[in-house]
Amino acid sequence: MAFISKPHFILLFTIFSTLILFVSALDLSDVPAEAPSGPNGFLPLAGKHVVIRNTVRNKQSLNVHCRSSEDDLGLQHLPWNGTWDFRFHVNLWKNTRFRCHFTWYGGGSHCFDIFKVSRDDKEFGHIPVCKECIWEVGKHDKLPMCRILRDGSVPYCFHWDDRSSGKQCRLLSSINVIIKIVLIK
Ligand SMILES: *[C@@H]1O[C@H](CO)[C@@H](O)[C@H](O)[C@H]1NC(C)=O
Repeated sequence: MAFISKPHFILLFTIFSTLILFVSALDLSDVPAEAPSGPNGFLPLAGKHVVIRNTVRNKQSLNVHCRSSEDDLGLQHLPWNGTWDFRFHVNLWKNTRFRCHFTWYGGGSHCFDIFKVSRDDKEFGHIPVCKECIWEVGKHDKLPMCRILRDGSVPYCFHWDDRSSGKQCRLLSSINVIIKIVLIK
């Protein structure tokens, strides 16, 4: 009789391969510039790199404030044609979402989910999975949010999320401002 029975061996093998899978997913995070999307970009804990470029039509600077349920990335000021970026890992439950509030002079106030699993991290979704998710903001009036590809192929463009979630986004921003004012005083 072998010391490890066959079912046990299979169980151990499964556990180890799962661990290796997770560790390799974690490793992807620190790889610098890489292909826009890879076949394994959709794993839980996959590293993501979101890049936002200010391409608003009137060439004003852009204010961007992004948050997830865990992180507040703070208010950012992007000069025209400038970029700002951040990195994170998709959580184990695959419900990571970053929502951003955009304002610029003459451009109003808008909300957009800059990263959501249902759009950006679904293996067989409407648009490809991105590991490096590059967004251009405000280039077109009709569909102002475009996820572009480094190879110059046709971008994937979207409306603001104003109608469904804009209120919530703005509400959160004002609550934050109120809290800051109260704390400063
Ligand atoms: C915007 O920036 C990119 C690189 O960051 C540069 O290649 C491009 O020429 C710039 N566009 C304009 C219109 O300045």
